[in-house]
Amino acid sequence: MDLRIRRSKVAASTVAIGVFQGERRLDPAIAVLDRKGGGGIDALIASKDFAGRAGEVAVVHPARGGVKRAILIGLGARRDYRESRARQAAAQAARRARDLGARSVTLMFPPLADSAPRPAGRLAAALAEGATLGHWKHTAYLRDPGPPPLDRIEIAEQDGKGDRATATDAARGASIGEAACLARDLAATPGQDLTPEMLAQRAREVAKSAGAKIEVLGVPQMERLGMGALLGVGRGSVHPPRFIVLDRAPQRGRAKGAGGAGPIVVIGKGVTFDTGGISLKPRENMQKMKYDMSGAAAVLGLFSALPAVEPAVRVVGLIPSAENMPGGRALKPGDIVRALDGTTIEVTNTDAEGRLILADALGYARRSKPRAVVDLATLTGAISIALGHLAAGMFTDDDGLAAELGRAAERTGERLWRMPLWDEYLAEMKGDSADLVNSAVPQGGAILGAVFLKHFARGMRWAHLDIASTAWSPVDRPLERRGPTGFGARLLLEWIGGMKAES
Ligand code: BES
Ligand code: MN
Ligand code: ZN
Repeated sequence: MDLRIRRSKVAASTVAIGVFQGERRLDPAIAVLDRKGGGGIDALIASKDFAGRAGEVAVVHPARGGVKRAILIGLGARRDYRESRARQAAAQAARRARDLGARSVTLMFPPLADSAPRPAGRLAAALAEGATLGHWKHTAYLRDPGPPPLDRIEIAEQDGKGDRATATDAARGASIGEAACLARDLAATPGQDLTPEMLAQRAREVAKSAGAKIEVLGVPQMERLGMGALLGVGRGSVHPPRFIVLDRAPQRGRAKGAGGAGPIVVIGKGVTFDTGGISLKPRENMQKMKYDMSGAAAVLGLFSALPAVEPAVRVVGLIPSAENMPGGRALKPGDIVRALDGTTIEVTNTDAEGRLILADALGYARRSKPRAVVDLATLTGAISIALGHLAAGMFTDDDGLAAELGRAAERTGERLWRMPLWDEYLAEMKGDSADLVNSAVPQGGAILGAVFLKHFARGMRWAHLDIASTAWSPVDRPLERRGPTGFGARLLLEWIGGMKAES
């Protein structure tokens, strides 16, 4: 998709116009355009058929002039106009434009009126990100995929100077949007076409384009390292497990001391399909379990856009990947596996496989003396019971890290809700025959999963995000259609993007 900043005349035949609620007068540039088109926009607003409420959309066909259609997008009250509002409105505009068969669209939005620096650049970034997110659709398997994606999005600058910096900001916004779209596409891909090795292949492509190193560990290497938990989960499948390691050093800003501090490590659960294994899941909705690699997808989304945000820190991505299947060689309830750190785990439920593979990833993360570790995992159905589909559970003992992630979440609109992580919960996960069990009681299921992970994260600055609630949306939302959301990719980019080197 091509992205342009335009200072003057509109080139696309579809324009999207942001309109504030309760404001009668059109922006001068839009008034000029509307007069040329016969005044249809003015008439619509005067009629009050379009009020400009946030989320409201109307399509106007100008009587004359070069513009084929104007999509009016309500922005809500002017005083609430921020980047997030602009991003959502641009997403709706791009979605409607695509659904109407437009090939390109020019976004005409009012400037941000806050006092933070670079308003034109921030607006352009928000619009580009929103438009990218909004017009996404997974069409890979459709005979009739419908209208294709827009191939050009133009941002009309009404106040800025159309400078290079604004174009760079817009490109960065688009890359961040694309990162979430990559994560969505991966999550939407059926298990048959995304085995652990195929996921590794996708990771190789991402690493190559992002200038990251990649290493993919196979079964013999995992055996040498002692990753008994990941190997155990992978045993039931004909598609062997993989452990994927991405590693990207900053290209510039290699400030003095940057080499001294450890990397930021992000871990993504990569279960390419979760049948539950011998503790087989019920048949209803089992097809959703192709999304059980959404954490891994977020990590790959993050890496894909690291060149666009270029943080001054080393970033390591770890993806333990397996297909959780029943089979003649599969783990059985009661089997005991030994994780990388030596902890033994009695597998009381083969469906609690996410925490097993993450245990080995956390053990692996420790070796790099990380500055911070964040894991993203579709870990428990219980987190959806607790939070519904609007927020992911955040589990951490580190208030500073919770605040950092909370701020990032606030900016991207990917909601996090902090959950308890008291040590006493671990008592329920203590085993008789092994150090731990992987599943105990259903009560507080998301917390028990988190506190199990905490054992393996001991000594590290760590947060666990249970995204089982948010990786998939049951309804259309401004930034996403029903289906996989790409949750976490933009959040990680926001969190890591602003990082400075640390000595
Ligand atoms: N992948 C599932 C969690 C999940 C459930 C994700 C629904 C998305 C939607 C996970 O591996 C799992 O099966 N968890 C079990 C844990 C239990 C056995 C302790 C669960 O939530 O039932
Ligand atoms: Mn499971
Ligand atoms: Zn799972």
